[in-house]
Amino acid sequence: MKQILFRNIRQLVQVRTQQPDGPLRGKELQELPVLEDAWLLVEDDRIADFGQMDNCPDIEGTQIDANGQLLMPAWCDSHTHLVFATSREEEFVDRINGLSYTEIAAKGGGILNSAKKLAAMSEEELFQKAKQRIEEISGMGTGAVEIKSGYGLSLKSELKMLRVIKRLRRESNLAIKSTFLGAHALPAAYKENREGYIHLIIEEMLPEIEAENLADYIDVFCEKGFFSPEETARILSSGRDYGLKAKVHTNQFNSLGGIQTAIDHQAISVDHLEVMNDEEIAALQNSNTIATLLPTAPFFLNDPYAPARALIDANVPVALASDYNPGSSPSGNMPLVIALACIKMRMLPTEAINAATINGAFAMEVAHEVGSIQKGKKANLILTKPIPSLAYIPYAFGSNLIDQVMINGNWVS
Ligand code: NIG
Ligand code: FE
Repeated sequence: MKQILFRNIRQLVQVRTQQPDGPLRGKELQELPVLEDAWLLVEDDRIADFGQMDNCPDIEGTQIDANGQLLMPAWCDSHTHLVFATSREEEFVDRINGLSYTEIAAKGGGILNSAKKLAAMSEEELFQKAKQRIEEISGMGTGAVEIKSGYGLSLKSELKMLRVIKRLRRESNLAIKSTFLGAHALPAAYKENREGYIHLIIEEMLPEIEAENLADYIDVFCEKGFFSPEETARILSSGRDYGLKAKVHTNQFNSLGGIQTAIDHQAISVDHLEVMNDEEIAALQNSNTIATLLPTAPFFLNDPYAPARALIDANVPVALASDYNPGSSPSGNMPLVIALACIKMRMLPTEAINAATINGAFAMEVAHEVGSIQKGKKANLILTKPIPSLAYIPYAFGSNLIDQVMINGNWVS
């Protein structure tokens, strides 16, 4: 058995003796349990034990002196689109010149642009590119990630994306969840035939995805110019018939009723929520659906931010994720997500760290394995550089404060 003992940890962050029953909400989000002057023992791929230095065990294995450093669980990034062919910085320049995200999408850019490029790329090359991005985010402290399809938009290309995600899951140490997002945009070939594309999703894509066991969740982009709440409802119901639970992209630019549709379909999460009204906040308050906020997207698109304070004050469980994708958030940098959550959405550092660890884990249904420092959970850990406090992490937003990252008991190089 391989043993690694961390000693003299200034603060062991997010230590829990008991797993929370569900995602943290309201005041619970502020409570981030910390153990001062601590040790932690890793055995193979798991957290074996921890405590305070006055009762530190003696072991034979590797010892790490974490003087002045914090040790915390790796980030749980519950919303990404990190399988894509190429970047889209030409659209970034178009937006600087005055075009909006939806105007670029309407003229065939955006998601359709990514779909064209993905169709032309081999599965092997797509895999290699995505693998590099996984390596990049694990270096920034991400230990669990959800990845969506949705740049395929044809049977062949959606399956190609989902097979890439399946292979990433096999060949990487990270905990990975897979989401089928066939309803990300209406492909060019179906411009005059919405029903035809929805039929393709329901009758052809879903059966094949089930046969190859390619997805855990189904997602829809419910938005003006994309899919209506009625279409979203049909697609989510069909996904459910194939064993896929719902997650929904909604209220990014408009409030159309996507939140209620998602709640009606017992969605695990509703994601984005930059544009929200009071009834929608009240509806979430009485549901088990997690509000997943993605602040790097409105940062990049120069849009308003989601009303995090109102959601937390209404007792809605909130998670934070990166939305890593080439169009609206070309970054999987979770420390930046946390900094923006604090600076732009007025989340407290403790709330933001809870939202990016344990609540992100709940939004991927992997909270029994990751998201906190707890005996028996996976050794997915971030060792910070020596820093004065937890709040320093979002405060010093431009500095790389991560010394080392461990995933499943292995160091990330
Ligand atoms: O979550 N909003 C829809 N989907 C992605 C962006 C996709 C893209 O522009 O490529 C998002 O922001
Ligand atoms: Fe997204």
